[in-house]
Amino acid sequence: MIETKNIDFYYGNFHALKNISMRMEKNTVTAFIGPSGCGKSTFLRLFNRMNDLIDGTRFTGECAIAGRDIYHKSFPVDELRKKVGMVFQKPNPFPKSIFENVAYGLRVNSMGDKSFIVAKVEASLKAAALWEEVKDKLKKSAFELSGGQQQRLCIARALAVSPSILLMDEPASALDPISTSKIEELIYSLKEKYTIIIVTHNMQQAKRVSDKTGFFMLGELVEYNDTKKMFLSPEKEQTQNYITGRFG
Ligand SMILES: Nc1ncnc2c1ncn2[C@@H]1O[C@H](COP(=O)(O)OP(=O)(O)OP(=O)(O)O)[C@@H](O)[C@H]1O
Ligand SMILES: [Mg+2]
Repeated sequence: MIETKNIDFYYGNFHALKNISMRMEKNTVTAFIGPSGCGKSTFLRLFNRMNDLIDGTRFTGECAIAGRDIYHKSFPVDELRKKVGMVFQKPNPFPKSIFENVAYGLRVNSMGDKSFIVAKVEASLKAAALWEEVKDKLKKSAFELSGGQQQRLCIARALAVSPSILLMDEPASALDPISTSKIEELIYSLKEKYTIIIVTHNMQQAKRVSDKTGFFMLGELVEYNDTKKMFLSPEKEQTQNYITGRFG
């Protein structure tokens, strides 16, 4: 589904990603772990071309989704952004109603008529395990929701435009344990339909939700392995040290 080959990425002269080759299969959850500043977010942002928005960056190597080079001149970036949804560390709902937050992407992309939008908003809120909590107050401001609910709303907003890939950059790090476990259950259920990459500092979370884990350090992919294998008997000593909390 997603494949990178020999990615080197630079912020100006700073070499942030070093020769990263990685392949992520459809309908799996991949976790990126590693110390702060090792390049996890930078790598994640390659897949929806969000790094394009940062001045002075460049990269070499290949980055393909479903067999297509997403950086090819002829690849439509707006189509990519529909295909690849993103959820950030801090919930960032728009200053709009709950309904309009989820409908937003459908409206700006002129996807469907009114009844389609109503149905899609409901389906997305259900998929994000939020519907029962908000179905009677769809017209209320999104800011009236709790942090955990806002994060599920942002997930619903990402799902509304029917992406096939979901990128999540520390989606639960600002949440309490109950909201966190809701998000984790949600991630687990979403993989039936989506290919998911999640960045997390929480090893237990990586262990619980992911099929594969990539461990990054100083811009390098130190180890990429089945999550079970990674946490039981990693191949590299650096991985072992990190997951047992000896540094980072
Ligand atoms: N916009 C930017 N301009 C310059 N350097 C940047 C920029 N964004 C990130 N970097 C640098 O690139 C490196 C990788 O950053 P990145 O945000 O990808 O790390 P990360 O693994 O996501 O860290 P964290 O766990 O703290 O979120 C860091 O050294 C960082 O300082
Ligand atoms: Mg980051």
